Amino acid sequence: MPALVVIGTQWGDEGKGKIVDLLSEQADGVARYQGGHNAGHTVVLGQETFVLHLIPSGILQPGKLCVIGNGVVVDPAALIEEAANLEKRGIPVRGRLLVSSNAHLIMPYHKAIDKESERLKGARRIGTTGRGIGPTYVDKMARIGIRVGDLLEPDLFREKLTANLIEMNYLLEQTYKVERFDLEKVYRDYMGYAREIRDYIADTAWILNQWIDEGKRVLFEGAQGTHLDVDHGTYPYVTSSSATAGGACTGTGVGPTRITAVVGVVKAYTTRVGSGPFPTELKDDTGVQLQERGHEFGATTGRARRCGWFDAVLVRYAVRVNGLHGVAVTKLDVLDACKEINLCVGYRYRGKTFQDMPSSLTVQEGCEPIYETMEAWRCSTTGIQRYEQLPIRARDYLSRLEELIGCQIFLISTGTRREEAILLNDPYSLRGQIR
Ligand code: GDP
Ligand code: IMO
Ligand code: MG
Repeated sequence: MPALVVIGTQWGDEGKGKIVDLLSEQADGVARYQGGHNAGHTVVLGQETFVLHLIPSGILQPGKLCVIGNGVVVDPAALIEEAANLEKRGIPVRGRLLVSSNAHLIMPYHKAIDKESERLKGARRIGTTGRGIGPTYVDKMARIGIRVGDLLEPDLFREKLTANLIEMNYLLEQTYKVERFDLEKVYRDYMGYAREIRDYIADTAWILNQWIDEGKRVLFEGAQGTHLDVDHGTYPYVTSSSATAGGACTGTGVGPTRITAVVGVVKAYTTRVGSGPFPTELKDDTGVQLQERGHEFGATTGRARRCGWFDAVLVRYAVRVNGLHGVAVTKLDVLDACKEINLCVGYRYRGKTFQDMPSSLTVQEGCEPIYETMEAWRCSTTGIQRYEQLPIRARDYLSRLEELIGCQIFLISTGTRREEAILLNDPYSLRGQIR
């Protein structure tokens, strides 16, 4: 039965929340596989706006089961708060959410280290969300991480915490010159969280495989985006997890042979939060116009997102490294007010032309975009649900985009709401249509 992976193709905030919500109507279960509460996935239902950080966006579709996989890093306080807020707003969470016992815990010292190491980096800071994501993955790879399942074994938890605090407190006091963490307080806080989340903890790899065996449909919800991936992104200006499609397998324990389709979410222009190269960034009025029309302010930190033209080099790369079968294009309506529209088709650096993403940060930072200019449609596409109703120039833009990235568009989003979309193809049966 279909197992569908949905990933971001740019630098995050492509509209994955909206697309996942829409596509989870046809799913039985939805799983997050990487990242943590650095994500902010917005879903608009009628008059209500929900921003999901750690809990899969599928939670908003009644009756769907949700999983936080082993590849996710979990701040238990954030999880408890998010679940409580959803329940307060009439969305049941208990009994529908499972958290992998192998997921790693974000500890208070991770947040402190995130903050202090950013401070020391000065101009070369990454502009992290300050949620402790990077330091938690560091500990995971260093094999000193504390996992969600450890919360159920207080003696083991205490032993690990004691050992870690010796190192972490030394780092905090000696290098960063900030306050140390008290063992008893952290232990008490986390045992309190354990009482609240113990019913969610499960062997989710076993359960997800069981669902697939039973013929259930599973959707894997990516967070961040391809160019924030720790291996394939604009390193070091990335997050610390595998945001590309392969992460869905390592981050849940579902093998690649069981994934039936992989689709990407593509914003009709480009945005980025935090530092790092951004060849098509617009620092003029057009950039401000995209920011205002697209409400490009971070769903997690509230920071203004940098905005620029669509960059086909970025997305073509995402099509390749994720093996995409199709893409959903979002926020087409944001371009409604543009007088003309530029599409970046390549980069130029010191007389050399690049059709593909250069791996050198120096080139990424120093290159000039090569643009193709298209006539704009200059009328409203908001809420359009049928392809034929799109203005011809909007269709031309989408066709050119499709051609440049070498991947078919299966869905076009024309507004924030669930129903504001044009579905061209069923993503669950896209397999084999890769170009
Ligand atoms: P995510 O992190 O990929 O889930 O994206 P975010 O939720 O951080 O940011 C996407 C923003 O765009 C949210 O405010 C969405 O409500 C909004 N959005 C999604 N699709 C569309 C669309 O087609 N048109 C417009 N105007 N807004 C959209
Ligand atoms: P969603 O899932 C956009 C960015 C941060 C920073 C870098 C590293 O909503 O698309 P981190 O705190 O992860 O160590 O920060 O990654 N970043 C995101 N940008 N959308 C996100 O998530 C992001 N999650 C992290 O701004 O540049
Ligand atoms: Mg977001």
